Amino acid sequence: MRGAALTEPVLRDDLAGLRGRNAVTRLVLTDFRCYERLRLTVDGRPVVLTGPNGAGKTNLLEALSLLAPGRGLRRARLDEIDRGGAAGPGNCWAVAATLDTADGPTEVGTAHEPAGDGAAEAGRGRRAVRIDGSAVRGQAPLAALATVAWLTPEMDRLFLEASSDRRRFLDRLVYGHQPGHATRIGAYEQAMRERNRLLRDRLGNRLGDDVWLDALEQRMAEESVAIAAARNEVVARLNGAMALAEGPFPRAGLTLDGLVEGWLAEGPALAAEERLRDALRAARSEDAAAGRTGAGPHRTDLAVRHLEKGRAAGECSTGEQKALLISIVLADARLVAMQSGATPILLLDEVVAHLDGRRRAALFDELCALGAQAWLTGTDRALFSGLEGRAQFFAVADAELRSEAA
Ligand SMILES: Nc1ncnc2c1ncn2[C@@H]1O[C@H](COP(=O)(O)OP(=O)(O)O)[C@@H](O)[C@H]1O
Ligand SMILES: [Mg+2]
Repeated sequence: MRGAALTEPVLRDDLAGLRGRNAVTRLVLTDFRCYERLRLTVDGRPVVLTGPNGAGKTNLLEALSLLAPGRGLRRARLDEIDRGGAAGPGNCWAVAATLDTADGPTEVGTAHEPAGDGAAEAGRGRRAVRIDGSAVRGQAPLAALATVAWLTPEMDRLFLEASSDRRRFLDRLVYGHQPGHATRIGAYEQAMRERNRLLRDRLGNRLGDDVWLDALEQRMAEESVAIAAARNEVVARLNGAMALAEGPFPRAGLTLDGLVEGWLAEGPALAAEERLRDALRAARSEDAAAGRTGAGPHRTDLAVRHLEKGRAAGECSTGEQKALLISIVLADARLVAMQSGATPILLLDEVVAHLDGRRRAALFDELCALGAQAWLTGTDRALFSGLEGRAQFFAVADAELRSEAA
């Protein structure tokens, strides 16, 4: 079972039998970006997709990224993904997959379901999720089935841009350790939205004694402590794994810069919960005026250092930043594999072309040793020759895939 307590000892003998079980074995896309219909069957080994620009490689990885909670690797709006976009035939996209999980094969479906009749509203809609044929509430249950981690060219700027991207990157990794993390973040955000709405509605009234606000802030404080504790734990484990890492990828030092995360490092969870509850209560007028909640785990940032260079990731070269990201994703995959036996599904979009030969070979060896189903893309098939015989190769052109002999 996934989601075992983090403190549970890892039994090495248990691992061998479970390894590499987290994989997509069947994928069907319908009206998904450039794909009118795509059916693909693969096994648990790495998958290499090569083809010219615009062939449909990233779109396919995006479809796989929607097997995890959230908005996928492009953070696109639901109607942007519909084939043809707003000007297209108006069909809503769907992704169906068979996932090989530690508990056996599971059928997963996710699709854009339009909301209401209004054309403007239809663009929004909701992302429906079905697991083994049954509709589930929200997307959080996906986190319990498989972990999907990705690196895309857009993430080359991860260390330079807003903290929200780094926080999401970390939270996605945390899902693999604690699948309940996605549900908690959803519950926290929902309570925060309601608090913001209440504060807006009651602006100018007495905000001090309001049982609804009390209840929402209590809920937020409870969820915050669980969210922050999970992040702290995963960051500590990643740092531990980094200390043991060998090979050509740089070791990364991770630090969380967050209010509740800091409080938890100093004292007991209950004290942190009370502190946040009191802080939220004290900030009601200020937050009402600002129209948002100023403090909480939705503001946490992840700081990364290049340990050998002794420099913040944001001050490293683009290539070094990329290598740091790969290093973190690989360390996390090793940890999750040791813990649950099911390595994350890794989506590595245009990653290989930026690596020198030594790092490329090390990456391929590591992916194969982990038994991870990594999906790798590139324009140049020759760069993947190190995976010959160990991966499945497909040529992508004009939204069609052709299997190629490895
Ligand atoms: N909603 C959409 N409907 C149809 N085609 C789309 C949609 N969104 C993007 N595309 C097209 O899909 C094609 C493939 O994109 P992509 O997967 O990013 O290519 P690449 O193989 O370079 O990664 C592009 O030509 C793009 O214009
Ligand atoms: Mg691409």
